[in-house]
Amino acid sequence: MMSTGSKLYEGKAKIVYATDKEDEYLTYYKDDATAFNAQKRGTILGKGEVNCTICAALMQWLETKGIPTHFIAQVSPREMLVKAVRIIPLEVVVRNIAAGSLCKQTGLPWGYQLPFPLVEFYLKNDELGDPLLTEERLQILNGVFNIVSLSQLRQIKEYALRINQYLQEFFRDCNIILVDFKLEFGLDASNQVILADEISPDTCRLWDALEQDTQKRVLDKDRFRQDLGDVEAAYQRVRERVLAQIERLRNS
Ligand code: TMP
Repeated sequence: MMSTGSKLYEGKAKIVYATDKEDEYLTYYKDDATAFNAQKRGTILGKGEVNCTICAALMQWLETKGIPTHFIAQVSPREMLVKAVRIIPLEVVVRNIAAGSLCKQTGLPWGYQLPFPLVEFYLKNDELGDPLLTEERLQILNGVFNIVSLSQLRQIKEYALRINQYLQEFFRDCNIILVDFKLEFGLDASNQVILADEISPDTCRLWDALEQDTQKRVLDKDRFRQDLGDVEAAYQRVRERVLAQIERLRNS
């Protein structure tokens, strides 16, 4: 383990440490899993290593597509060196297929193919239960809390839609359907918007395209949220397929 700097922040799935460089942080990926705003807690054995590895692979690949990310290097199985950012307190969700809270809130059937990718902004605030924002609500909040400027928001939406295209294509080649996912962005030292946090089976809904059974196909944290069992095996399967695809891309 490399973590020697002081602990800056501990979230539900990761710890962020300072390093000897002011503009770099070290993130440590935990096995802890939570759902429903931490009302449900548990452990997914090996999750930290799997998520750190998947996230490193995907962010490195997104960089080659022109998406700026906080990724610098994976320095151990559970540790990633990242650029220091000020996190923009938004959870940016992109959906291709209806699932989760979209179904709960609108009555759309689980698995309904959306006519276009839906980008949603939630306020990152556990006490408030990460409420869904409208652009006007955000505009008003900005007057009080200065969350994100309009031009940064436009940039975030553009990145989110591009990331969706790239990831959909990437996962398609892994025989995985990208149902939805959550992103977080931050501002780097020069105030540029860059992709931060993580992309992993914790933050995406991923369905096995080779499996028809609606429970067996689930390869993400819904296995934990819904007590579907075999959580570790599903995460490992995602890692294997992602790394195999990276290898194929390298050799092509
Ligand atoms: P939702 O359907 O619960 O709104 O989730 C949409 C996507 O966002 C899903 O892929 C899971 C991910 N997500 C997170 O990464 N963190 C969260 O706190 C929540 C609520 C969802």
